[in-house]
Amino acid sequence: MLLFREKFPADWLSKVLANLPAVLVDHAHLERKAATSALNLEKYRDLFPRVEELNAIAIEELQHFQLVLALLKQRRIAFGQPYPSPWIAGLMRSVRSGQRQQVIDHLICCSLIEGRSCEKFQVLASELKARDPELAAFYAGLVESEGNHYATYLLMAKSIDDSETNRRLDFYLDLDAKLISEPNPLPMLH
Ligand SMILES: [Fe+2]
Ligand SMILES: [Fe+2]
Repeated sequence: MLLFREKFPADWLSKVLANLPAVLVDHAHLERKAATSALNLEKYRDLFPRVEELNAIAIEELQHFQLVLALLKQRRIAFGQPYPSPWIAGLMRSVRSGQRQQVIDHLICCSLIEGRSCEKFQVLASELKARDPELAAFYAGLVESEGNHYATYLLMAKSIDDSETNRRLDFYLDLDAKLISEPNPLPMLH
């Protein structure tokens, strides 16, 4: 289902595994930002008819945020400051202005972020199985939800303008492939 043209760098996994507490704090912020992104999409006229669906996604992301916070508490990891993701900032920088163009680009960016989360959570679920089964199960439990968000955002864009979405998706998949390969030593998921 995922369309990515480039694998995330091979050293991503070792970086994450070596910094799990910091990555969990970053993950908490990622879920918080996913909830606010769903709400931010409600400002577009083309998405007014989808406001309940977007609320449902925001609620789900807020629940994920709560789950990560509970995990932090249980592991005595302090909630802390977020780092900005150069990959997400790079995608968002290419969102064009103007109602119709902006909503399609914004939805594609949200879709790709959800898709990369789905992909990485799947890898973590399998890689953590032996060394941290509880965390592995936690990540496995998020895969389906993030995969659904990926598909929902992409289908929302397509229902607004299918050919424009395909054209911009082609652009964004190339941009993702370029940005994902750039080194990021910070202990972050994206
Ligand atoms: Fe989530
Ligand atoms: Fe999500």
